Amino acid sequence: MKDLFAINQLTRDEIEELLKTASKQNLDIITDELKNKRLLLAFFEHSTRTKISFEIAAKNLGIQVIDFMPELSSINKGETLLDTFSTLESMGIDAAIIRHKEEGTAKYLSQNLSMSIINGGDGTNQHPTQALLDLLTLTQNFSKLENVRLTICGDILHSRVAKSNIDLLKFFGVDISLCGPKSLIGQNYNEFNFYDDIDLAVENSDVVMCLRIQQERMQQADIPNVNEYYNKYSFKKKHFETNKEIYLMHPGPVNYGVEIENGLQTHERCLINSQVKNGVLMRMAILKKILNDIGN
Ligand code: CP
Repeated sequence: MKDLFAINQLTRDEIEELLKTASKQNLDIITDELKNKRLLLAFFEHSTRTKISFEIAAKNLGIQVIDFMPELSSINKGETLLDTFSTLESMGIDAAIIRHKEEGTAKYLSQNLSMSIINGGDGTNQHPTQALLDLLTLTQNFSKLENVRLTICGDILHSRVAKSNIDLLKFFGVDISLCGPKSLIGQNYNEFNFYDDIDLAVENSDVVMCLRIQQERMQQADIPNVNEYYNKYSFKKKHFETNKEIYLMHPGPVNYGVEIENGLQTHERCLINSQVKNGVLMRMAILKKILNDIGN
C-alpha cells in the first residue's frame, strides 16, 4: 500500500492487518525501526488530534518528523501545491500527512508523486485514519461488530468522519442509523434508518457517535438554532440511564453544551479518550504498513 486517501481503497485483509498491528503497539516503547524514514506533517486546516497523534506515532517508530507550515511556505509566493510537494520529495521526504479544505487533494497528490500520501482529512470528503481508529475502538468494546446498532448523530452533511465511518462500518455489517436535523443529513443516505430525536436513537442503539456542528463549512440555510439543537440532538447524562448499555463516541473536537452535555467526558461508557489513545496506535500501524510496503 503506497497511499491512504479513502476507506474504499482498502481491502478487508488490509483493514484486518491494520487492526492487528495497532492492537500490538505499545505507547510506552520507542523504537528506531523506521529511523531512516522522513514524514511531513502538512496541515492546511486546524488540527490537534490528527496532527499530534501522527507526530507521536512517527516518533515512537523512530521516524524523522518535519512540520510543514503552510502560512510560512513559498505557496504564499505563488508556488502550486504539487510543485511544493515535488520539491519536498526531492529533499527526501518519504511520506506526507495532508489535511486540506479541498476535497480530493490527497488523492490528487498521491497520483502525481512517488512519495506516500496519507489523507488527514480533505474538506467534507474523507478522514480514513479517524474511521480506522474508531473501528479499533469498537472492536475493543464488542466481540463482533455484525449487527451492532450504531447511530451517527449531528452534522453528517459536512462530516468527512461520517463518510469514512459509513464506508468502513458498512463493510463490517454494523447496523448504521442517522440522527439530526434534516438539513444536516444530506441526500446520500436514504438507505439508513433515520431518527429525528436523540431520545429515540438512544433507545434503539448500542453506540451513539455524536459529531460537531461544522460552522466553518455551513451555508446560512444549514445552520440550526443551538438551543433547539441541544434539546433535540445533544447526548445528555440521562441517556446513560435510559439505555444502561449505550456507549458514547465523538471524533472530537467536542463542543460540550452543544452536541454533548458538559461533564460526560469521564463516564465509563464515554469512549472519547479511548478514541484519542487509539489514534496513536492506529496511526503507528498505518505508518508501519505504508513505510514498510514502499521499502527501505
Ligand atoms: N478528529 C479530528 O480530526 O480531530 P482534529 O481536528 O483535532 O485533528
